[in-house]
Amino acid sequence: MSEALKVVDATGVKLDVTEYDLGASHYLRTGEVLSDSTLSELKGADAILLGAVGPPVGSNDVPPGLLERGLLLRLRFELDLYINLRPFTGVSNSIFPKCDFVVVRENTEGAYVGEGGVLRKGTADEVATQGSLNTRFGVERCVRFAYELSRKRPAKHLTLVHKINVLNFAGDLWKRTFEQVGEEFADVASDYNHVDATCIYLVEDALRYDVIVTDNLFGDIITDLAGAVTGGVGFAASANLNPTRKYPSMFEPVHGAAWDIAGTGRANPLAAIRSAGIMLDYLGESEAADKIATSVLSYAYNMSGSWLDTGELSTQQVGDGLAKMVSQ
Ligand code: IPM
Ligand code: MN
Repeated sequence: MSEALKVVDATGVKLDVTEYDLGASHYLRTGEVLSDSTLSELKGADAILLGAVGPPVGSNDVPPGLLERGLLLRLRFELDLYINLRPFTGVSNSIFPKCDFVVVRENTEGAYVGEGGVLRKGTADEVATQGSLNTRFGVERCVRFAYELSRKRPAKHLTLVHKINVLNFAGDLWKRTFEQVGEEFADVASDYNHVDATCIYLVEDALRYDVIVTDNLFGDIITDLAGAVTGGVGFAASANLNPTRKYPSMFEPVHGAAWDIAGTGRANPLAAIRSAGIMLDYLGESEAADKIATSVLSYAYNMSGSWLDTGELSTQQVGDGLAKMVSQ
């Protein structure tokens, strides 16, 4: 986060920044994940930039899922951040150096709503159910956003990803909604891929994609795969958007744990820097946003391709390098 803010500052855009300590260490100190008063303060911000929130190395004191549900998902739900936008632009050390596609992930429904329960826990007769909630309203606003985004891109090509051959209720709702909304977008070419096939295509032929729209859980999974084949998860940016602007949108690097390098000062800050760039675009600072986007790409192209693996550069050195590029 500090490298991201450093780079934003170097663009000349001056942000009024309020920092909140909301991660695992805050929880371990206070027993609180996100207070109602902090949440309402956040609602008053113009945008939120979210950093890594996981527990310190070796800590077993944070119950699994507590921060995910209590912080990240609570923010996504309460701010109604119904679009999770994840752009993938390949770099020189990825499988797909030239790829340029975007995943529009539904961000407030599906398997993430926490619907279900458990009976007879711990016994041989235990039963667990986990529902996936899909509403016409939720699916339609997501699909419509994806069509509108596709319309603005040169390829104008939108792919629905689901598993309609097995998920016959939710998949049917998604497919029908996708086709009906598509009637309003005759200029956008649309098609459908099963999610398992999409995993093959992302590895073998990611260049076929322009915009993908999909549900919350499929979107979670395929964007990790997409990150891995287009520069690594340390390069993957994301935006949790409320397109109505009723609440502030939230920008975050796509998170994944990296215990092996935690605390060594070698985490790749490019995903955080790119996410901050997308945030500037959302805040109307499109010139600075473009500068960050193009600088990150040319910085990545110029690298030997080895540092992501060997960590030759420190987090701070990468931040300094980017800050220098955007200030020129
Ligand atoms: C992501 C993350 C989250 C998700 C986790 C941390 C709850 O994996 O943003 O992709 O599943 O959405
Ligand atoms: Mn994920």
